[in-house]
Amino acid sequence: MATVNVALIGYQFMGKAHSNAYRQVSRFFSPKLTPRMKVLCGRTPDRVRAAAREYGWDETATDWREVIARSDIDLVDVSTPGDSHAEIAIAAARAGKAVFCEKPLGNTVAEAERMLAAVKKAGVVHMICHNYRRAPAVMLAKELISRGELGDIRHYRGTYLQDWIADPKFPLVWRLDRKKAGSGALGDIAAHSIDLARFLVGEIAEVAGDLKTFIRQRPVPGNPRRKGRVTVDDASTTLVRFASGAIGTIEATRMALGRKNYNRFEINGSRGSLAFDLERMNELELYLESDPQNVRGFRRILVTEGTHPYVKAWWPPGHIIGYEHTFTHTVFDLLEGMARGRSPKPDFEDGVRNQRVLGAIEKAARTRRWVSL
Ligand SMILES: NC(=O)c1ccc[n+]([C@@H]2O[C@H](COP(=O)([O-])OP(=O)(O)OC[C@H]3O[C@@H](n4cnc5c(N)ncnc54)[C@H](O)[C@@H]3O)[C@@H](O)[C@H]2O)c1
Repeated sequence: MATVNVALIGYQFMGKAHSNAYRQVSRFFSPKLTPRMKVLCGRTPDRVRAAAREYGWDETATDWREVIARSDIDLVDVSTPGDSHAEIAIAAARAGKAVFCEKPLGNTVAEAERMLAAVKKAGVVHMICHNYRRAPAVMLAKELISRGELGDIRHYRGTYLQDWIADPKFPLVWRLDRKKAGSGALGDIAAHSIDLARFLVGEIAEVAGDLKTFIRQRPVPGNPRRKGRVTVDDASTTLVRFASGAIGTIEATRMALGRKNYNRFEINGSRGSLAFDLERMNELELYLESDPQNVRGFRRILVTEGTHPYVKAWWPPGHIIGYEHTFTHTVFDLLEGMARGRSPKPDFEDGVRNQRVLGAIEKAARTRRWVSL
């Protein structure tokens, strides 16, 4: 079987999740190309070596430029904070590598557009990691909507709620720094809800948005008596008009006490409704108006049948899967795309469209007006 040599830049949260996906994918699926975990790259030699041992990488490096210059690397995986996505992805594309990049694509629309132009010019395969599309229940939702089971879609209600910065003593990490992260809850988690909205309902035509920072000063990491300024939003709320005529709301916050990774959407159409919650990711709720009236109601579909998307590769019905499997599914489709020389969705074009929505929400919040895409 042909091999793809992978270089992964960044080795913490997403680095670990992506490493697990590369390790598992050929053990459960049968991709035409099998990934070889060649080089793990980070800035601190001891720590990157320890991570490489733990995750199963052949080699380590501390300078991503050296990694990209290597002729034996086929795929560059960008799992660093947003401020380095553009530089790394553009250099990788110019060197003729396929590029898999974490979300949001860049920290600004201009960066994301330059990234798209670079991968197009180089003719390389590109993909952005909106892994939630590849939860089997979300794929089933897509199938049901595409088949017209819900009729005309009227509402999309996306909420992505977490609580990890609710404590004012939580330190000023990179995700609270605009220079590093681009934005706060908006780019970090609303970006996923926007991707799901585009995937399931269609293009967004107009937005009105509001951004809020509740805690403006936080302890500096390593020096908790000093405080520094939070330069991103803690929460965002958005009204959405889709090109199709559907309307929606997208709410994202990292201040909703008790909500850990509550990535939920509800979609209402002219013939039915469906709802998904990542914290119960093996289930899809479905309501069909065509059911006999005396038994009509939301049903809970356990999306673990061999006939459901991706499930056959895993376990028998009812033997549920988890968060990490969404990355394995994403990497499987990336490898299949590379085998065919075609970029799987969501690609950098989707990344740019997503970034334009993020930019429009920021503008709408600033100007207190609706903004067209
Ligand atoms: N798809 C998802 O669900 C999801 C979830 C979390 C994070 N993300 C995205 O993944 C990216 C990384 O987030 P994370 O949570 O893994 O962050 P993290 O802080 O856990 O890890 C970031 C890694 O990047 C490394 N790094 C930073 N700058 C670097 C540089 N210049 N050169 C080499 N390495 C560098 C750090 O050392 C660290 O290993 C972000 O874009 C984030 O938005 C996506």
